[in-house]
Amino acid sequence: MSQKTWTAVDDYLNGLIVQPDAALAAAREASRAARLPDIAVSAPQGKLLNLLARSMGARRILEIGTLGGYSAIWLARALPPGGRLITLEYSSRHAEVARANLARAGLAELAEVRVGPGLELLPSLTGPFDFFFIDADKEGYPDYFRACLALARPGSMMVFDNVIREGEVMDSRSHDPAVRAVRRLYDDIAAEPRVSATSIQTVGSKGYDGLCLLLVS
Ligand code: SAH
Ligand code: DHB
Ligand code: MG
Repeated sequence: MSQKTWTAVDDYLNGLIVQPDAALAAAREASRAARLPDIAVSAPQGKLLNLLARSMGARRILEIGTLGGYSAIWLARALPPGGRLITLEYSSRHAEVARANLARAGLAELAEVRVGPGLELLPSLTGPFDFFFIDADKEGYPDYFRACLALARPGSMMVFDNVIREGEVMDSRSHDPAVRAVRRLYDDIAAEPRVSATSIQTVGSKGYDGLCLLLVS
């Protein structure tokens, strides 16, 4: 099994059941044209976020790490009329691309991009949020977990991206700052009685990584 197979299978699923549409394709293309890093969630992952948020009837969604707004489009599309997505982005350049992509997708009214370091923006937000997608700097994950928990309600769901790191996450001696931060996140989750969590290892066009899903009680 190789990256080539994983990508080909994602392509197969995208053409059949995931069905990313023209607005999503345009968002990817505009992000590439603006030379943003090619690290948005895959289409199957974006669809998963959309299905999770829809299945719980999320009305208020918070994302940390907007990039070009690709995952934000999947998330905002899960919202009912009157719902709201707030997405936090450190880079004003990324945020501009994201705003244009969200507008092209017809989601400008539902989705708001706020610019600044996530950790500085979070205290200005008023909860509760129903659904959280955390995908910014991995070193910040433990702090984002605390801050998002303070903005959650019983029944809120959080999803963290990039929490397997090609399996390196099990290496307690790793010096990779992202691995160390994700390991701290897992320790904090394990010690927090208000959350119930799992992590799913994934392969696909983005390689071998995974998603952590947790429910707040
Ligand atoms: N969720 C996006 C991908 C996000 S990539 C998608 O799937 O489409 C990570 C993003 O987090 C980058 O745009 C980066 O600029 C941003 N970021 C990095 N550090 C941050 C911070 N401290 N606060 C907010 N955003 C940050
Ligand atoms: C990177 C960040 C991500 O959120 C991701 O999904 C993949 C890669 C990165 O910073 O390299
Ligand atoms: Mg990610």
